[in-house]
Amino acid sequence: MENNKRPETMQRITTPELAEAFIAEQVEAIQKQVGDKKVLLALSGGVDSSVVAALLIRAIGKNLVAVHVNHGLLRKGEPEQVIEVFRNQMNANLIYVDAVDRFLDKLAGVSSPEQKRKIIGAEFIRVFEEEARKQDNIHFLAQGTIYPDILESGPVKAHHNVGGLPEDLDFELVEPLKFLFKDEVRVVGVALGLPFGMVYRQPFPGPGLGVRCLGAITRDRLEAVRESDAILREEFLKNDLQNKVWQYFTVIPDLKSVGVRNNVRCEEWPVIIRAVNTRDAMTATVENIPFDLMQHIVRRIITEVKGVNRVLYDFTPKPTGTIEWE
Ligand code: XMP
Repeated sequence: MENNKRPETMQRITTPELAEAFIAEQVEAIQKQVGDKKVLLALSGGVDSSVVAALLIRAIGKNLVAVHVNHGLLRKGEPEQVIEVFRNQMNANLIYVDAVDRFLDKLAGVSSPEQKRKIIGAEFIRVFEEEARKQDNIHFLAQGTIYPDILESGPVKAHHNVGGLPEDLDFELVEPLKFLFKDEVRVVGVALGLPFGMVYRQPFPGPGLGVRCLGAITRDRLEAVRESDAILREEFLKNDLQNKVWQYFTVIPDLKSVGVRNNVRCEEWPVIIRAVNTRDAMTATVENIPFDLMQHIVRRIITEVKGVNRVLYDFTPKPTGTIEWE
């Protein structure tokens, strides 16, 4: 039976030197485990899958087949960054799947948050499975499982969508980060040459912007969520808030209100800004964002984001408000 307990003798990886030692050890272990066979990985571009990808590229180069599925619910610039970092800079064998229409067609008219999550998860497995079947000589599946995933939910990464592949796709798992805590994964990621912004990014839910475009997702409202989120992130980065606030994003409910634009009444959506700090995501406090910065962000959103005429700030701590809105 597989051992899923972090060895007591394992040192915390806190420095670049310790990260290098870990990388050397894992590269050897991976090479020994997989030989000249290929390894498949669902590369979302999140911290864990990116670090696993970089480690496997170091160990087996083009024998890693990394699949990046763009489900249309990613943040602005994310698919481009995955392609730039992994294909252009790291010379990886990266398969980019544009599945935007497929996901958005499946999600059209679906307003229940539970149903939306289910559709996104199931469709992800389907797309990934299709890509897996196109490949020969694949015997292994790499996963960005980290130690908290094992402690919290057993061997399969809880929010990792590839937990449910069909039985005939019977891969052996490669999980080189399974004994690492998040801070250690980040130190290893930097040592592997990943961009700082990719390794120290805020948490982002698997169903992506799908949980922030409330109710039934439409392309125009999804675009407004993506654009307003990009403005918020750009301003937080510029004003040095990105490492002081744990999670920050925008949400758009499925409602319109009356406003006025160029002396004409307009019915448009409100954007809700959420910016919270937390230790473990079980409780959260709301951040005190400088008022003039808030005004600047509001001005940018109502002028630059199509279809938005109001901006609200969510002052609710958790409890009672969860961090996400659905
Ligand atoms: P809540 O909204 O429950 O969020 O206060 C706590 C943390 O979990 C993230 N979150 C998710 N992550 N899939 C994920 O991978 C999800 O469906 C999901 N829902 C919430 C949320 O972003 C926050 O960091």
